[in-house]
Amino acid sequence: MKTLDLTHGADEADRAAFRAGPVDEESRTRLAANGLDYRRLAVDHDGFVGWLQTVARGFQDGERTDEQVAASRDRSGYRRLTGVYDPAGPMADAPVATIASWLGELTVPGGAAIPSCAISAVTVAPTHRRRGVARAMLEGELRAAQAAGIPMAMLTVSESPLYGRYGFAPAAASASWQIETKRAAWIGPQPAGRIDFVTRERVRELLPSLHERMRHRFPGEIDVPGSHWDGFAGTNPAAEKVGEKRAVQYADAAGEVRGAAVYAVRENHDDFTKATATVHYLLAETDDAYAALWRFLLELDLVAEVHAGELSIDEPLLWMIADQRAAKVTVRDHQYVRIIDVVACLEARRYGAAGALVLDVSDPIGLSAGRYLLEVDDAGVGRVTVLADGESPEGAVQVALGITELSATYLGAVSPATLAAAGRVTTTDPTTAARVLGWHTAPRLSIWY
Ligand SMILES: CC(C)(COP(=O)(O)OP(=O)(O)OC[C@H]1O[C@@H](n2cnc3c(N)ncnc32)[C@H](O)[C@@H]1OP(=O)(O)O)[C@@H](O)C(=O)NCCC(=O)NCCS
Repeated sequence: MKTLDLTHGADEADRAAFRAGPVDEESRTRLAANGLDYRRLAVDHDGFVGWLQTVARGFQDGERTDEQVAASRDRSGYRRLTGVYDPAGPMADAPVATIASWLGELTVPGGAAIPSCAISAVTVAPTHRRRGVARAMLEGELRAAQAAGIPMAMLTVSESPLYGRYGFAPAAASASWQIETKRAAWIGPQPAGRIDFVTRERVRELLPSLHERMRHRFPGEIDVPGSHWDGFAGTNPAAEKVGEKRAVQYADAAGEVRGAAVYAVRENHDDFTKATATVHYLLAETDDAYAALWRFLLELDLVAEVHAGELSIDEPLLWMIADQRAAKVTVRDHQYVRIIDVVACLEARRYGAAGALVLDVSDPIGLSAGRYLLEVDDAGVGRVTVLADGESPEGAVQVALGITELSATYLGAVSPATLAAAGRVTTTDPTTAARVLGWHTAPRLSIWY
């Protein structure tokens, strides 16, 4: 089986080849048997308008204006766009189902960024739902990724129950915070650098380079498509209410910019001391930048509550406030991953402890099933051997699990011991399995895609 060169992440030639690659033949045949046409379309094709309107309708959003269509077309060049068309319908040139994907990078435990197929814009029209169209598209994109040598797939979801059946698992949770500012009281560091307001255009320049420098520190982060930064900074010409967005930067004592935040304040007309600030994005390259930006936000005058989302479940911020109960923290599933190439993925990450595990992996759609010996050395580096039928290396801990469960453990979010207690994994030694597959940094993902 082909695998992309993992040492170089995803290079531009690989990205372009995947974007322009064919749709999966098995799914095309299956959909054709139901009278449906499964095809890819280029972003500059006339059909882009219909494709985009179907996506907007699929997410219960309003019809896109000409300006929004043009802006979206400009920002969609990185995506592989696919639609399912019903030639028997009255609007045969607008798809009845959509999916988009692209070759991106996923940070894994240890800091490597591996090629990963990001999937988004999955919609099926209510007129064509529950006939297996989404299944054909998801399986189709996974097979297309496998054929292109992409070892991993990933997505964020509108509803949790949709994707486990294809082997995806929640692998990095996100935390939403509501902080009562008066009660929180800052007890964290007071760094020597300075916070200054900057324009939205300036913060749009800062965010990508700051993110590029920090994303390797957190398993679960991805290389953010350029267009997302316009959304955070409010520099997308089609965006609404951009005037609400305020941007600040943190420069360290030497004058280097190490962090930035974009936030908006909504005043409270009944009580001017009780406004709410919503943090749209906060990026800190250093601990000092992190402390300075959070302190600034928690000490804004007239603001009684600060809301922030897509945070890690293990934020240092919790230890920087005097009253931890000032923060209401809601945790939910966020970044989903799906291992496609078990050997490539397991050799790309680093591990919490030395040990040997036999992973007996089942796969609901048959892409990645097999028995694998994972041997981890003292440096946390893993080597993987595909085992022959009946082969059973002496002394190795046996772990039987689905590809969904293996994917759930991949970024270090959940212990196999927890999954064993939940009846999702069977193992001869949950403690060793947990130590080996564990990781010390909680995975996170700071965007939706
Ligand atoms: C979610 C959506 C894409 C499903 O499309 P669909 O073509 O009806 O799905 P399929 O018929 O292929 O169903 C595939 C499987 O998913 C299950 N399923 C579909 N929608 C589901 C839902 N909302 N909740 C739970 N299970 C669901 C089906 O029962 C089926 O199960 P099975 O194949 O294991 O028996 C479609 O309802 C939709 O567009 N929803 C609104 C937009 C959205 O939320 N998209 C997902 C973005 S992450």
